[in-house]
Parts: sequence; structure tokens; C-alpha cells
Amino acid sequence: MSRIYEAWQKSPLLAAKVAMDRVAEYIEERRLGIRTAGHIRIESLVENPRENHDYTPTSIRALRRIFDHAGIAPGSETLVDYGCGMGRVLAIACEYPFRRALGIEISPDLVRIAQRNLARFRGNRKCTHVEFWTGSAEQFPIPPDATFFFFFNPFGGDVLTRVFSRIGSSFRDHPRRLRIVYVNPHAFQRIAPDYPWIRISSTFSFEHECIIYEAGP
Ligand SMILES: C[S@@+](CC[C@H](N)C(=O)[O-])C[C@H]1O[C@@H](n2cnc3c(N)ncnc32)[C@H](O)[C@@H]1O
Repeated sequence: MSRIYEAWQKSPLLAAKVAMDRVAEYIEERRLGIRTAGHIRIESLVENPRENHDYTPTSIRALRRIFDHAGIAPGSETLVDYGCGMGRVLAIACEYPFRRALGIEISPDLVRIAQRNLARFRGNRKCTHVEFWTGSAEQFPIPPDATFFFFFNPFGGDVLTRVFSRIGSSFRDHPRRLRIVYVNPHAFQRIAPDYPWIRISSTFSFEHECIIYEAGP
């Protein structure tokens, strides 16, 4: 309800679209065999939330539009979802031919729920290799085959700058085409000029704004 109220403050039309999305998602999640809806405050997930943000999932419609637009070449892309929560991004990513999909999440409870969701997922699976890494994102060692990074505003401050400094080092050490999807990018946009190795390749407007950045050839 908080997201419908938030949307209402921007425009009644957006609030109507968000409400319709929620109903469609309820039906779609039943078909897919997953349960990822909801809003969980970060204070109830970790002891010291600092710059870490609450759990709430990206809309399924937005995810499919992003992945359709990205055109995932079979077997050549590895997705990393920073702050994977209950695993919705990973589940929908499995409908696309990613080589593998990695979920990074600070809350062990959410990782357990995500693992259960991925085990029950009944969608059309084109990617079967999903892994989880539990801990704070700035400590995650980025594998050199990671090419597709997903953020739904999971954290800010030092955590965010450390994660981007790691992605930058990974890019310098292993030059390759990278894409970074940022949903609700307002905090990131303020620091994006500090990373001149990325450029904006597309933007979308869903319930939240979404920017796709790109690096490499
Ligand atoms: C807005 S939710 C996004 C969930 C999922 N990516 C999606 O789009 O459906 C943000 C998630 O980031 C996680 N998170 C917050 N701080 C984190 C950190 N420092 N390291 C890893 N995960 C974190 C939260 O627990 C939450 O599950």
C-alpha cells in the first residue's frame, strides 16, 4: 500500500497503474510459484542498517521490459543482483538465457526465502545456474565473467561508492562489455560523474525511473 500511496503523491494515473501492476503481479506470482511481494524494513532484517535500504521488489513488468530490451546473448552474460531480497529479479532473469545469475544479499533470512522461491520457480527456465552470496555488498568479490549488474536502490553512502569502486577495478582488470541497470537511481545519479567509464545507454520510466549504463566496447 505504501508504494501506491507514494505513487499517488506523484499522480493519480501513476497510482492507478501501480495498483493494477500489484494485482497482475499477484496473479503472475501464483503462476510462477514464487512469493516475493511486500515491503520489509531494513531495521527488522539487520542489526546495524547504516546506509542499507528496505526490501521491496522491482515490478515484474519492468523486469521483463528491461531484459527484453537488453537482448541477452545466450550463455554469454552473468547477472549480479545487488540486494536480491526474496529473489524476484533472479527468478525473472531465469526466463532469459543468462549463463548464470548471482544474488547478493545482506539478510540471511531473505536469502533463505529467495532460495526457496528459485527452487519452486515454475517459469520457462532458460538459465538454470543461480547462486547466492550472503553479506554486505561491498565485500562481494566480483567474478570476472559478471557483465550485467542490477541495482534497485539497495544502499547508499560508503557501501555504494565501495561497490562501484570494485566494479571499476573489475572492469580495468578484465575489460569487457558491462551493463548496469539502476532502478530508482536518484542517489546514484549524484555520484555517477565520479565514474566516467560508464555512459547512459537507455532510460525507462516505470513506477520508478530506470537508467541502463554501459561500459566497454
Ligand atoms: C529495494 S530491495 C531490491 C530487491 C530486488 N533486487 C528487486 O529488485 O526485486 C533492496 C535489497 O537490498 C538489500 N540490501 C541492503 N543493503 C545491502 C547490503 N549492504 N548488501 C547486500 N544487500 C543489501 C536489502 O536487504 C533488500 O533486500
